[in-house]
Amino acid sequence: MDKGTFYITTPIYYPSDKLHIGHTYCTVATDAMARYKRMRGYDVMFLTGTDEHGQKIAERAESAGVSPKEFVDGIVCGPNGIIDLWKRMNISYDRFIRTTDDYHIEAIQKIFRALYDKGDIYKGAYKGLYCTPCEAFWTQSQLQDGNCPDCGREVKYAEEEAYFFRQSKYAGRLMELLSGGEFLQPAPRVNEMVNNFLKPGLEDLCVSRTSITWGVPVDFDPDHVVYVWVDALFNYMTALGYQNDKYDDLECYWPCDVHFIGKEIVRPHSIIWPSMLMALDLPLPKKVFGTGWLIFDGEKMSKSKGNVVDPIILADRYGVDALRYFLLREYTFGSDGNFTNELLITRINADLANDIGNLVSRSVAMVDKYFDGMLPSEHESGPEDAELIAMAENLREAYESNMERFAFQNALAEIFKVTSRANKYIDETAPWILAKDEGQKPRLAAVLYNLLETIRICTVLLQPFMPDTCVKIFEQIGVDEALTQYDTAADFGSLPKSTAVSKGPVIFPRIDLKKELEELML
Ligand code: ME8
Repeated sequence: MDKGTFYITTPIYYPSDKLHIGHTYCTVATDAMARYKRMRGYDVMFLTGTDEHGQKIAERAESAGVSPKEFVDGIVCGPNGIIDLWKRMNISYDRFIRTTDDYHIEAIQKIFRALYDKGDIYKGAYKGLYCTPCEAFWTQSQLQDGNCPDCGREVKYAEEEAYFFRQSKYAGRLMELLSGGEFLQPAPRVNEMVNNFLKPGLEDLCVSRTSITWGVPVDFDPDHVVYVWVDALFNYMTALGYQNDKYDDLECYWPCDVHFIGKEIVRPHSIIWPSMLMALDLPLPKKVFGTGWLIFDGEKMSKSKGNVVDPIILADRYGVDALRYFLLREYTFGSDGNFTNELLITRINADLANDIGNLVSRSVAMVDKYFDGMLPSEHESGPEDAELIAMAENLREAYESNMERFAFQNALAEIFKVTSRANKYIDETAPWILAKDEGQKPRLAAVLYNLLETIRICTVLLQPFMPDTCVKIFEQIGVDEALTQYDTAADFGSLPKSTAVSKGPVIFPRIDLKKELEELML
């Protein structure tokens, strides 16, 4: 089963406000991937955390009348904070980094000094246009309609003595890296980077500030603090022990297999990050995958626009697993998608209540009713079986090829093709008619067995998406731990012939769409 290691990361989020459904989306996707790889036998390292320095945080703390550290402590570790949110969403991260952790700060100082000693960081003066929310300097030609090209907000002229990173030196290698097609995905993100940043000529990057104090001080020039993106990007390595003694996992997990990030931070991840690693002669991450945004009424969700959706409210109403499922089934990972409550409820009703939920409760209820909860071992196959069995047997392969490409939506669609087929199989075989004839008992047993086995295989593959629900389904259909393993998903017929079921509560109750929509508007 030992497949080697798999290192996956989410962005480290700014603890400037409560996180919303958009942040949850990227983290849930990372969690599903981490769980999938663990299920396949990989030694997984799943890293998430918080990016706690920078002007934006300092300003928020000031208006809240507390120190920046007190402010971020509340949002990260306080009640209903980020750590609580990930617990609630069942996020199985292995490590959580805070960029205010001492070991990280010391490591960033060493990294900055190493780049300076190599001559790849030099002192100069910065004159330019700065976007405070994005913590980014822009040139006039990069602005869009005079505003920040990332967030569309106003930029301000800023001038200060600063250190620069010789990013321009790495333009050729970056062009090669991005053109290779493997490093940055999905493909349209490559064109954006090449056309907007590499082709116009890559400039050196300003990597220190003197006008703010909330950051990692440059130890050999303490008027300067390290640019927040340098501090933030290296989290992916300091959290494994790079330039610190806190951890010792670099050799095991670096280079990273994939960074999952939102599309607005593709530039730092595909240009700044690899060029700094090149400067330090460090191996580059294998892949950066830029997801799309969840859009609300045509706009990106953000606290300042007041259009945020609270994942906790939705999880409390519909369950964490239903929300996790919806996020990964409804949207194409890598493209933008519109979020509405109606889409959420419609998807839960169609797939979870009517399709898989119904399949499980009908199948279990029939074993209960016709065989007192225990299938007999004498089974008789019939002409309706072959197609269902073939679909269930081939499912794992189709699922795997989609999961390996991060095509969560398609992987889930494959599973639900099989559950729909199983519901149709019930109609074709009409167990209630077979039950009337004592001589048809072996045929009835085979039909119900095929249903349980199909449910088992689908549930094995659903585990990364709906971990708690899958436990409940396994309990109802009488599956032992051994038959929940990934390897068993390609072996139709693994379930013992005389399996005992235990009827339980409805897994996904149907939701009254109209009533819910009214209540959610309140
Ligand atoms: O950018 N739809 O942090 P951040 C989908 N600290 N995803 C969304 C989203 C939306 N509406 N809104 C946010 C930062 N996200 C930096 C990252 S990494 C070294 C440093 C997700 O708190 C998306 O993945 O602004 C985005 O990249 C991330 O949240 C940014 O969160």
